[in-house]
Amino acid sequence: MFFKGIGYALLAALAIAQIAAAEELEHPKHLAWQFEGMTGYLDKKAAQRGFQVYSQVCSVCHSLNRVSYRNLSDLGFTEAEIKAVAASKLVEDYDDKGQRIMRPGKMSDNFVPPYPNEDASRAAHGGAYPPDLSLIVKARHDGPNYVFSLITGFGPAPTDEKPVPNKYYNPYFPNHWISMPPPLSEGLVTYQDGMPATVDQMAKDVVVFLQWAAEPEMEQRKLTGLRVLVFLTILTGMLYAIKRRIWRNVKH
Ligand code: HEC
Repeated sequence: MFFKGIGYALLAALAIAQIAAAEELEHPKHLAWQFEGMTGYLDKKAAQRGFQVYSQVCSVCHSLNRVSYRNLSDLGFTEAEIKAVAASKLVEDYDDKGQRIMRPGKMSDNFVPPYPNEDASRAAHGGAYPPDLSLIVKARHDGPNYVFSLITGFGPAPTDEKPVPNKYYNPYFPNHWISMPPPLSEGLVTYQDGMPATVDQMAKDVVVFLQWAAEPEMEQRKLTGLRVLVFLTILTGMLYAIKRRIWRNVKH
């Protein structure tokens, strides 16, 4: 009985230690995003740069299945630009005889994934799976800050952390060891608008782009919300004025 008690106590201590270890996770840095808040809006210039970062860097490993090329018009790209982006990709399709072919992409195609399926992707990344990024900002707690912190947060491991083979130290990732190599480095892309491509800038831009991918209707939703608020405010004022008018001659 006594030993059993000690056993349970030990188990409880272990569980608490595990919870404590999980809590060691670094809290994401907190950035001021333009798309946040009641009047938040999409910074199209940043989103366009973010699209460039996704295309030239992240898309080598991560798919973006839920976005189609024609959606890029939301970011202010012209039809000619979007057609050129789509046409530079090869899409698997069938010809009129039912034969498998590869054809240039069209505006209506969804973003072409880097691998045909999850197994192929895992095989290329030592068993780890680079998740589809379409909804990642919504799928993680504090998504925008988390993704920003994760992709800028690589660094040398503290000496008390045991290295894991083929993994990289990142204090923002659960268990601190991630199979993604640090994806960004100074000047990795050349921005067309002349913005210096620092690691922080590229990370911010790609988060703005991924935020849009996860919630393309955000601006519209917020605009509708604001309109409803204005309407309700006016309505309240009117109702109050009417009430006073109706009860004007009634003595208390
Ligand atoms: C060389 C391949 C590669 C590139 C390039 C790459 N990633 Fe990853 N990424 C991975 C792999 C592999 C994982 C899965 C890691 C794991 O499970 O340990 C991952 C995981 C992630 C995750 C999920 C972390 C989580 O909480 O599960 C995010 C977010 C992410 N990557 C964002 C990005 C962004 C943004 C870029 C572009 C700036 C990028 N990645 C570029 C390979 C890559």
